[in-house]
Amino acid sequence: MSIQHNVSLKAYNTFGIDAKAKYFISITNKAELIEALQLPQFSEYFILGGGSNMLLTKDIDIPVLHINSKGIEIIKTNDNDVLVKVQAGENWHDFVLWCIENNLGGVENLSLIPGNVGTSPIQNIGAYGIELKDTFVACAAIHIASQEEKVFSLGDCNFGYRNSIFKNEVKGEYIITSVVFRLTTKNHKINTSYGAIQQELEDNNITNPTIKDVSNAVIAIRQRKLPDPKKIGNSGSFFKNPVISKTAFELLQQKHAKIPHYVVSENEIKVPAGWLIEQCGFKGKRFGDAGIHENQALVLVNHGDAKGKEILALAKKIQDTVLHQFNISIEAEVNVIA
Ligand code: EPU
Repeated sequence: MSIQHNVSLKAYNTFGIDAKAKYFISITNKAELIEALQLPQFSEYFILGGGSNMLLTKDIDIPVLHINSKGIEIIKTNDNDVLVKVQAGENWHDFVLWCIENNLGGVENLSLIPGNVGTSPIQNIGAYGIELKDTFVACAAIHIASQEEKVFSLGDCNFGYRNSIFKNEVKGEYIITSVVFRLTTKNHKINTSYGAIQQELEDNNITNPTIKDVSNAVIAIRQRKLPDPKKIGNSGSFFKNPVISKTAFELLQQKHAKIPHYVVSENEIKVPAGWLIEQCGFKGKRFGDAGIHENQALVLVNHGDAKGKEILALAKKIQDTVLHQFNISIEAEVNVIA
């Protein structure tokens, strides 16, 4: 384990923000992690995974632990499924591709989501009708204060929409070191309930899709709609889709007959924040190097050298405008480091 000094984090966050880490430590296994957590001169740490869900608005003065442990292994084989243990530093999409290559089903709808496996449970990543929780079995984590290992089962994690125990009760207390998934080896549960996937498969004349077909469809849809962080800095959806009351929704629908929505429960409706932001006229706009993506208004982008504070100011302006125009508060999904 070695400590590097004054390292630019530009290459380590998908927004491409040029914040500096005063101390930067690359962690490749559990022993190194424990060693770093026991350094006597430090008491607080900044945990960095794939850097795909954060907006850095300042330099980081506490040690940055870059979780870079690798490894994917099948730990149990059952009749119809296997349990696969994945180290936290594995890239999420590489893991999905490994599953497709090995004919393991369950995560194909989550193709091309940026970030690492170790951070995927924190916000219960989800897309196209599937969430992480649907294949999650357990994760191992190190308690930062005691350096003891704890295993969190599916039930322990309290997964919700872009939410888990790691964003609430135990926020900032643990570092996830590995995740175990249950993946099907046959009779895969193909999920094409999301309209865009059905359309994509139809366009390609696929009637009986395999997990690879679904993965390819998701990749094609995402590539059309979402900017590639390697080309233009972004953190995916910047905001969560707000859930509003049925009464508030019906009032909105009177004015906007075509408003897209998903029914959450009898009295709750989820409205796409991207739609609200587009209605406010922000889609494709640019303010210096901070902007709103031209194909998906939910995604804020860094056109080059935007400062984290400029992106944050744009996010606030969008939130204020949506609140003023629709009386709906939209909340950041991205973790703002301020
Ligand atoms: N829409 C607009 N304008 C926009 C964007 C969207 O009118 O600029 C409308 C679309 O036409 C559609 C509806 O809003 O009718 C929903 O759009 P989309 O299918 O793109 O999904 P989303 O609700 O905007 C969510 C996730 C995405 C995920 C997709 C697909 C959140 C915050 N975002 O977006 O997740 O890929 O569904 O499942 O829930 C991410 O978290 O980084 C992410 C990309």
